[in-house]
Amino acid sequence: MAINWYPGHMHKAQREIRKILGEIDLFIEVLDARIPYSSENPMIANIRGDKPCIKILNKSDLADPQITADWLAHFKQTKNTDAIAVTAKTPSTLKDIIALCKSMAPNRGEPGKPVRALIAGIPNVGKSTTINILANRIIAKTGNEPAVTKAQQRINIGDGVILYDTPGMLWPKVENENSGYRLAITGAIKETAFDLDDIATYALDYLMQAYPEQLKARYQLEALAENGYETLELIGKKRGCLRAGGRVEMNKAAKIVLTELRDMQIEAISMETPEMCIAEQDEVEARLAEKAQKQAERKKKFKQKRNG
Ligand code: G4P
Repeated sequence: MAINWYPGHMHKAQREIRKILGEIDLFIEVLDARIPYSSENPMIANIRGDKPCIKILNKSDLADPQITADWLAHFKQTKNTDAIAVTAKTPSTLKDIIALCKSMAPNRGEPGKPVRALIAGIPNVGKSTTINILANRIIAKTGNEPAVTKAQQRINIGDGVILYDTPGMLWPKVENENSGYRLAITGAIKETAFDLDDIATYALDYLMQAYPEQLKARYQLEALAENGYETLELIGKKRGCLRAGGRVEMNKAAKIVLTELRDMQIEAISMETPEMCIAEQDEVEARLAEKAQKQAERKKKFKQKRNG
């Protein structure tokens, strides 16, 4: 599934971050706890080098607590990285971020030497909500459509921490097709016209193996069908999404499933685990390496031909 990709925005964000890199003590990357891998921005890992990073798994109220715990353990094993699960529904959980900032930058955090943390996140992960809670005031606009490129802001949140809000847009993982689906399922990408049946089918294929009992309970199904598409058909029948002649209106059924998933009508669920994503990342890297090798070979052949 293709994601709209605006390299112009991305380059601007990258340039702006590089300009202030020397002033930054650490990075805070806000992620969606349901999709911590797919909501990462690959550029952050490249730019930050060895600088400490705090991964904030926000919206943890929507995610599966067991899988969130697995993600926290996974991130904590990564060099110079710590992680914390928070939810804007319980603002006090966010205040722990301040203590974490100070522990990751032990030479700072005193009067006159605040910790300078660059806060980043792809659209809709809850970065603005997080900033507002940390600052105890409305600094950033929330719930807006993505694509607002604003000037970089410094926000003194008190307690010896200054947040540098990332300028420009940061985009999610785009090389991995699975990430595209998961971003669409969780509502992170909403402005593009997607094929809803396709996305709901992907979601159901996953839920059928990860959360079969919750799925059956939600849609009062005695058994699940063979695959996601057929389960979507069963759900459509149950919910009366029928055309004349009794055919299931798949688009309507898909809308129901996706809306209910986002509205938490199907318990707290996570769409990816660390194991799944490690395997996917290996595949992506192998594919990119193969592509680069083919390109290099083509170039070599072209040069040989040209030189006779
Ligand atoms: P962004 O700056 O990263 O783009 O995200 P923003 O804070 O604008 O939040 C995006 C949406 O996610 C908002 O909902 C916000 O209320 C919601 N949100 C943020 N943090 C949490 C959380 O911890 N849990 C849950 N369940 N939701 C969270 P919206 O429907 O787009 O707007 P609105 O209803 O807040 O107006």
